[in-house]
Amino acid sequence: MELAMVDDCIVPLDQARISAHDRGIYFGDGVYEVLRYCAGRLFALDGHMARLRNSLTQMDMLAKTDLNLITERIKRAVTAAGIDDAAVYFHITRGSALRSHDYSDDWTPNFLLTVRSFHRRDGAARAITHPDWRWHRCDIKSLNFVANVMAQHTAHKKGAYEALLVDGNNLVTEATSSSVLIIKDKLMQTAPLTANILPGITRALLLEWAGSVGLATAEESFTVSQASNADELLITGTGSEVIAITHLDDKPIADGQPGAYTKIFRNLLYQAMYT
Ligand code: PDD
Repeated sequence: MELAMVDDCIVPLDQARISAHDRGIYFGDGVYEVLRYCAGRLFALDGHMARLRNSLTQMDMLAKTDLNLITERIKRAVTAAGIDDAAVYFHITRGSALRSHDYSDDWTPNFLLTVRSFHRRDGAARAITHPDWRWHRCDIKSLNFVANVMAQHTAHKKGAYEALLVDGNNLVTEATSSSVLIIKDKLMQTAPLTANILPGITRALLLEWAGSVGLATAEESFTVSQASNADELLITGTGSEVIAITHLDDKPIADGQPGAYTKIFRNLLYQAMYT
């Protein structure tokens, strides 16, 4: 059964209630994670918790957050939900207070979690390019997502699944909720973590697996033109898994079909998740 958890309390999804004065609402003042629960376990839990720790540290929220308690809540929620293949979303905000930009030191974190059935996306999709309008700390998985929402909706209006975000130097950073990689002449390339991107857990797995399938890797930014002329253009993420981008701004990538390596990575990810 899909469910929500507010602080320690499990409730039906549509009965989750939080304070109107949650700083997450006023300021997006919080951090989040999304992970998968499949084959009876939380996939890449350690990686997600390590990234959460970093987000909390950067936001000056770590001292108030009990990470063991968060892990315990996640486990309790997925057990209660009993869904075989689920997406677990949770966020921690800097508590509730009447609107004031600054925060006092005595805040108490608010926690919200949902467990929902995971719905697999198609392995092939179209993408557009869109200016990267986000802030300069995209390494933090914060709740500030307006620039991502705007770009994603523009993509949907144009019949695409994702928007590849392009910075002021015409370099692709990442997509609105996925990392972006290209493969050209047996080299897999993706923007470095210094390029104002989220350290994607799935991205890191592909970088780890590349050698075993005969690909060299480079964490180096690439241009839109390099993406358009790649042998394969792909996106990765907890929600996307591994998806071949077959068309960018309506132009086919190579022959406009999912590439061989992208399919291999999609299968490797399934193996890692389900076995
Ligand atoms: N998004 N880049 C951005 C901006 C993201 O929001 C995400 C994930 C990723 C991929 O990271 P990972 O492989 O760790 O899921 C890259 C989640 C799934 C979301 O917002 O729903």
